[in-house]
Amino acid sequence: MDKFIIEGGRPLYGEVEIQAAKNAVLPLLAASILTDERVMIHKCPRISDVLNMIQILNELGCKTHFDQDTLVIDSADAASHEIPSALAKELRSSVFMLGSVISRFGRARIAYPGGCDIGLRPIDLHLKGLKSLNVKISEEGGYINCSCDRLTGADVLLDCPSVGATENIILASVKAKGFTVIRNAAKEPEIADLQNFLNKMGAKIAGGGTSTVVIRGVEKLGGVEYTPMPDRIEAGTFLIASAMCGGEITVKNADANNIVSLIHKLREISCKITVKNDKIYIASKERRSPKLVETMPYPGFPTDLQAPMTALASISEGSTLIVENLFETRFKHVPELIRMGADITVRGRTAFVRGVKRLHGADVVAGDLRGGAALTLAAVSADGLSTVTDLSHIDRGYSDFEYKLSGLGAKIRRVRI
Ligand code: UD1
Repeated sequence: MDKFIIEGGRPLYGEVEIQAAKNAVLPLLAASILTDERVMIHKCPRISDVLNMIQILNELGCKTHFDQDTLVIDSADAASHEIPSALAKELRSSVFMLGSVISRFGRARIAYPGGCDIGLRPIDLHLKGLKSLNVKISEEGGYINCSCDRLTGADVLLDCPSVGATENIILASVKAKGFTVIRNAAKEPEIADLQNFLNKMGAKIAGGGTSTVVIRGVEKLGGVEYTPMPDRIEAGTFLIASAMCGGEITVKNADANNIVSLIHKLREISCKITVKNDKIYIASKERRSPKLVETMPYPGFPTDLQAPMTALASISEGSTLIVENLFETRFKHVPELIRMGADITVRGRTAFVRGVKRLHGADVVAGDLRGGAALTLAAVSADGLSTVTDLSHIDRGYSDFEYKLSGLGAKIRRVRI
């Protein structure tokens, strides 16, 4: 197990480059098995979620290798329809493999997926959507077995706009017979990115990124070379880091259009933000509290930035109400922030944050990916020495997190316990 040792309290200056989006790359990896031609994903981040997904592809019989930062996947010899349970339990996105593996082999078997412990995280909408496409599903002993003679397009209405279910149904329907319409689809930009990737392979998809996605099934998909969209959550994390520490930074390879809700909040609390092409410049000194932060499906405030935003609110002048609407138990970072001097009360899905002037260093534990990032930012901004333990969560989603922060002037290093 690794931990960060952080000497906090320095302002951040300089430039930081954003990786390709974790949540865009993971469904692309699942999609790669839909073709037996070569797939190349440029700027592929070597975060552990991606490495685990690559491992799943290898277990299914795909050949993969990195050529510098380009991931090359050859699925010509893929033969297995069984996603290994140890890997499925590591990562929730393994569930995307259902749609693409059924499409390729007519059957799939997977253990119930794992991932961050931030709530119940059911997969009922994924399974309901697949059933509409003519997939037979049985569940036994923690495993899901799917089979199907011929995937058939259908009209699917999602009870709530689930990102993963929308992506899974797209993956399953892209080579199904006839048309599929997904209504009340999630509108997250990563879905438009998946659509662009698949269309480059020869798929016929329209509406990705809106609440209605229409897929016309095609016979065959070909190879593709693709650069995924920048990671809006990583970009948001660094903007919040700058707001917490003060100073001036430029976030490069970012798409400001995808984090409008955050940029509005940061301007509201008096950060100066300028956007030019793929660069976001931020300068901040003192902060007012953001008053209300309520997580919503896109384009609302992203749940994945709630933890960093809670850390920011904890050192802003005034009080903030944070409402987490997406996940049931996504406040595990709060007791750790309190150890650093934050003044926060949690009731159910609401946190009431009374801003303090500064946090102080403490030994804290990362309990999940974004919570771990939030604690790291808190430690980088706090007075004195902190340790953040259990970096396996942070490594799931951020590549070179400590190098990027130290490149901006933070004093942070990783040690093995
Ligand atoms: C994706 C993101 C994750 C982000 C989340 C919400 C990836 C790899 N992960 O996760 O970073 O936090 O979107 O923006 O892209 N739900 C059901 N039944 C289902 C599926 C979901 O009830 O079958 C509910 C969930 O419990 C949750 C809500 O729908 O309350 C949204 O979840 P969903 O959009 O599916 O999130 P993920 O795709 O898991």
